[in-house]
Amino acid sequence: MSESIFLKACRGEAVERTPVWFMRQAGRSLPGYRKLREKHDVLSLTQIPELAAQVSREPVDLLGVDAAILFADIMLLPIAMGIDVRIVEGVGPVIDQPLDQPESISRLKAFSSDRVGYLQETIRILRSTLSVPLIGFSGAPFTLASYLIEGKPSRTWVKTKRFMLEHPDNWDKLMSILSDGVIGYLKAQVDAGAQALQLFDSWVGCLSPEQYRTQVLPHVQRIFVALKNSKVPRLHFGTHTAGLLKDFSNVDCEVIGVDWRISLSDAKRQVEGKSLQGNLDPVTLLAPWETIQRSVDGLLSEVDSKKGYIFNLGHGMPPEADDKVVKKLVEYVHSK
Ligand code: CP3
Repeated sequence: MSESIFLKACRGEAVERTPVWFMRQAGRSLPGYRKLREKHDVLSLTQIPELAAQVSREPVDLLGVDAAILFADIMLLPIAMGIDVRIVEGVGPVIDQPLDQPESISRLKAFSSDRVGYLQETIRILRSTLSVPLIGFSGAPFTLASYLIEGKPSRTWVKTKRFMLEHPDNWDKLMSILSDGVIGYLKAQVDAGAQALQLFDSWVGCLSPEQYRTQVLPHVQRIFVALKNSKVPRLHFGTHTAGLLKDFSNVDCEVIGVDWRISLSDAKRQVEGKSLQGNLDPVTLLAPWETIQRSVDGLLSEVDSKKGYIFNLGHGMPPEADDKVVKKLVEYVHSK
C-alpha cells in the first residue's frame, strides 16, 4: 500500500502513472448506490457501515480509480456536535433552527469520537477489503459555518458574512469550536484507518483575501498543524480560490486542490513545495469524447503529471456523468 501511486503523488514522489480519483465519486448516479437509495435516505446510508462501505467501494471497482473516499457527508460532524440536520433531495443540507445569532453558538456540543463509531466501523470494513488507499474528509470550519448560519445552501452567503463582520469575537469563537470538532473528527478517522485526509472548504472563495487571511486562515492553519502527527497526507481543497490561493496554500499540508477557474500552471506558480490536485471542469465529462481528451491533454501539459500531481475534477462529479465515459477517462489518464 505504501507503493500506492496516490499516496506517492501526495508526498511529491515520482510515480509510474498519474493517479486519478474524483471528488463525489461515491454515490451520485452509480447503479449500486441508486438501488440502495430506494430504501435509505443519504444520512441513514452513511450510518450503516456495511452499506456505506459498499458505496465507497463501488467507484473503485467500476471506474478503476486510485483512491476511495469514505461515504460520509460534511454535515455528519455538526450532527455529532448536537445539531439537527436534514438532507433534502434536490436542495442539500437544511437546518430548521440555524445558528444565526451570536448566542446560538452555545448549542454546539464538544465533539466526541463515540458519536461517530459508525464511521470508524465503515473505515475498518473498507481497510480490510480495499486495494487502494482510503481518503477520510471533513468540511472546513468556514464551509460548515455557512450551512449552520444560513440554514440551507446559499449562493451569496450574506448571513454568514454578516455574522462574521458584525460579531467578529463570536465568529472567532464559532470557528474555534468548529475547528476543535474538525480536528477530533479527522483524528477519529485516522485512528480507524483513513490513509489520507481532505479538508473541503468548498465555499470559502466567497471571501475577500483580507477576510480570509484574518478571520478564517488561522483556524485552518491550526487544524492542519494538529493533524501533522497523524502522518497521513493532508489535502486542502476549495473552489473560487484563485484570488486567495497564496494564503489558501499557506498551511501545513501536502496537497492543494484547485477548481477549473485557474490554470494548473498559474496555480503551480502560487503553490510552493506542495502537490497539486485537479482541475478538470466537471461539465467537461458531459462533452463529446474528443473534447474530453483535448481538455485532459491540455491539463496534463501544464504539470509534471508523474510527480506531485493527482488528476481530479475541479469540483464534484456531476450526477449526469456516464460511468462508461468516466471509466474511459481514467484509462486515458493512466495511459498518458
Ligand atoms: O465524494 C463522495 O462521493 C463521498 C461522499 C460525500 C458526500 N458528501 C455524500 C453525499 C462527500 C465527500 C460529501 C462532501 C460534501 N457534502 C461537501 C463538500 C464537497 C463539495 O461538494 O463541495 C458539501 C458542501 C456537502 C453538503 C451536501 N451534502 C450537499 C450540498 C448535498 C446536496 C447536493 C449534492 O452535492 O448532492 C449533500 C447531499 C449528499 N451528500 C449526497 C451525497 C451522495 C446526495 C444525496 C442524494 O443521493 O440525493
